[in-house]
Amino acid sequence: MRGTTEAINLVAFSFGNRFVGAGDEIVISVLEHHSNIVPWQMLCERSGAHLRVIPMNDAGELRLDVYQEMLNPRVKLVAVNHVSNALGTINPVVEITRLAHQVGAKVLLDGAQAAPHLRVDVQAIGCDFYALSGHKLFGPTGSGILWGRSELLDAMPPYQGGGDMIRSVTFEKSTYADLPAKFEAGTPDIGCGIGFGAAIDYLESIDFDAASAWEMDLLRYATVRLSEVPGVKLVGTAAQKASVVSFLLDGIHPHDIGTILDSEGIAIRTGHHCAQPVMERFGIPATARASLAFYNTPAEIDTLVRGLAKVRELFG
Ligand SMILES: Cc1ncc(COP(=O)(O)O)c(C=O)c1O
Repeated sequence: MRGTTEAINLVAFSFGNRFVGAGDEIVISVLEHHSNIVPWQMLCERSGAHLRVIPMNDAGELRLDVYQEMLNPRVKLVAVNHVSNALGTINPVVEITRLAHQVGAKVLLDGAQAAPHLRVDVQAIGCDFYALSGHKLFGPTGSGILWGRSELLDAMPPYQGGGDMIRSVTFEKSTYADLPAKFEAGTPDIGCGIGFGAAIDYLESIDFDAASAWEMDLLRYATVRLSEVPGVKLVGTAAQKASVVSFLLDGIHPHDIGTILDSEGIAIRTGHHCAQPVMERFGIPATARASLAFYNTPAEIDTLVRGLAKVRELFG
């Protein structure tokens, strides 16, 4: 896969064209990245299915009570992220999956932001599809994974046609290769795959549990330190969070915050984070976001806090 986006598009196209029809429902959440929204809108346009959206509370947690009421036998697929890139919320994916399965719906999890921070066990979660991106796991851009249950992938038609995905080709009829080749038409990006493999080897060589625990300590420290900065408002205060802190500062546009911090040597991300419905839910155009990895340190959070004091100074 080229990444989470392509993995989700594959499922929307292949699973969607085979198993979703007029009057069916697809459930996503307000917390999704655009890549877990637009492919489902496109599927609904093609098929006549309806898109339903799970709302969230002011902390950035999905409303499971509303979700439960939305579920019914017309729901064919529930597609939500494991961890929100915009707010850091860790969604209760085991419970979301269990409830979806009760009405016969399949579950796709967007794990782009979960895989770098959490140990992911698709069998323990019980989901049907899991998508992630290599570049968020220290691998090359344009690499990724779609994991799916083989009985489902077997029942799904190919996503793209071409070389390598066939068993035999005649002008009358072509037959398709077994998994995974059925979904791998054309020459793949071999270099990318090798690079991604090296990144996974690296992650398997470190103590991932210790790295995750370190990230949790950083998150706690960053949350306390940033809350102490006058004018800072944290956006996304879920009880279960990965090490992502989204914030606003005194009505100063996040792009200005980002530019000034950049000149201080501090890299954060600013904007809508490809999650415009999340911004709309909070009535804001954008946030500033510090995303902390296991290579970050408390001293770097102190530097960020000093940088924010400078931003306030410059804006009077
Ligand atoms: C939660 C989430 N989903 C999906 C994506 C899309 O990933 P990619 O652009 O690698 O396909 C991202 C990327 O930022 C993300 O954070």
